[in-house]
Amino acid sequence: MSTFQAPKGTYDLIPPVSATFLAVREAIAAPLKNSGYGYVETPGFENVELFARGVGESTDIVSKEMYAFETKGGDKLALRPEGTASVLRAALEANLHKAGNLPVKLWYSGSYYRYERPQKGRYRHFSQVGAEAIGVEDPALDAELIILADQAYRSLGLRNFRILLNSLGDKECRPVYREALQGFLRGLDLDEETRRRIEINPLRVLDDKRADVQKQLVGAPMLHDYLCDACKAYHEEVRELLTVQGVAFEDDEKLVRGLDYYTRTTFEFVHDGLGAQSAVGGGGRYDGLSEMLGGPALPSVGWALGVDRTVLALEAEGVELDIPPATSVYAIPLGEEARRKLFGVVTELRAAGVATDFAFGGRGLKGAMKSANRSGARYTLVAGERDLEEGVAQLKDMESGEQTAIALDTLVAEVTRRLG
Ligand code: HAM
Repeated sequence: MSTFQAPKGTYDLIPPVSATFLAVREAIAAPLKNSGYGYVETPGFENVELFARGVGESTDIVSKEMYAFETKGGDKLALRPEGTASVLRAALEANLHKAGNLPVKLWYSGSYYRYERPQKGRYRHFSQVGAEAIGVEDPALDAELIILADQAYRSLGLRNFRILLNSLGDKECRPVYREALQGFLRGLDLDEETRRRIEINPLRVLDDKRADVQKQLVGAPMLHDYLCDACKAYHEEVRELLTVQGVAFEDDEKLVRGLDYYTRTTFEFVHDGLGAQSAVGGGGRYDGLSEMLGGPALPSVGWALGVDRTVLALEAEGVELDIPPATSVYAIPLGEEARRKLFGVVTELRAAGVATDFAFGGRGLKGAMKSANRSGARYTLVAGERDLEEGVAQLKDMESGEQTAIALDTLVAEVTRRLG
């Protein structure tokens, strides 16, 4: 214990769980890399205005949860609460959309920050892997992204997740719906704050978790009935494509996402073993965001999956990822002279691509063997003065227990051969 602890709402990733984290990140990224998405990395902080405009001034994320600050130089910045606004900003800044190759497909992986009330699955610092496909309006692109997330989760061995799907309409039909919904909501018996929300962000009221509010919402106008023909047709096509590919989803008319930029397709991946924080990932179309950021019209779609919650989902389902041990060979020198010699062998093995570790600190054989066991190494390599005089080291197979003296000059070849 030191005087310091990780800040509230954060936690450290340490072995062995950290290996699961890396594996999850890789499993989510793999289908993206396999589908034409290129890696993008943006700064951990941005101009605060980017999020205010992009994510929406009235959202909880911007109004309550953002780590906003002013630098000594007077710049108003914020730690990024999400990735979409940053990635689109970067794409516009680099003129990727002008290279004539639309959609611009990008994936990312990193840390995000929200000043939320911490609880299981909800942290102030968390990890996402995300994907954005920028500049094309095509239901197949929406379907592609949903299918890739589905593949990622299945490749991890997750089964108890569901895909919720909705359409939020576009700039033609949503305003008409918004007004109808406001008319309905204004007639209800609601508290002051909720009444304010009716005027700023009425769709969020549908998302209210309180039973007395939900009771009053029975009979509220639903967006589904207000979708214009173009939105309806688009949505039907997305549904059809998913169905043909055998990706099961549930229509969820009440799915309202917590970010303002969405249009048309929205979806969430929820896991049933996580309690209140059940959304393991989410995303949708954001056809107007580029223009909100001062760019040209670039209809786009994307998602972000939460790495922390995906790891919790694996735990909830009892899925153990098959993570191979980090070390293949563990080398143990007995004595000063052996230490020098064997350290050279270790360096050689590593250069040959064999994952090798070394017993540092001149501990005895017993302690070193314990470390070798803990490392999960398939082989230990032990050498004392006498072995070295004979030009050999003892290679022990930790599975069979069998031990063989191997000539030092053939060692690298022999170990690589054995490891296949
Ligand atoms: P989001 O739904 O806000 O969407 O976040 C995506 C995922 O990040 C969530 O489903 C959840 O797994 C994880 N997450 C969010 N907040 C926390 C938290 N406080 N602690 C732990 N995990 C969390 C977005 O961020 C959009 N940018 C997704 C997107 C990309 N839409 C279009 N493109």
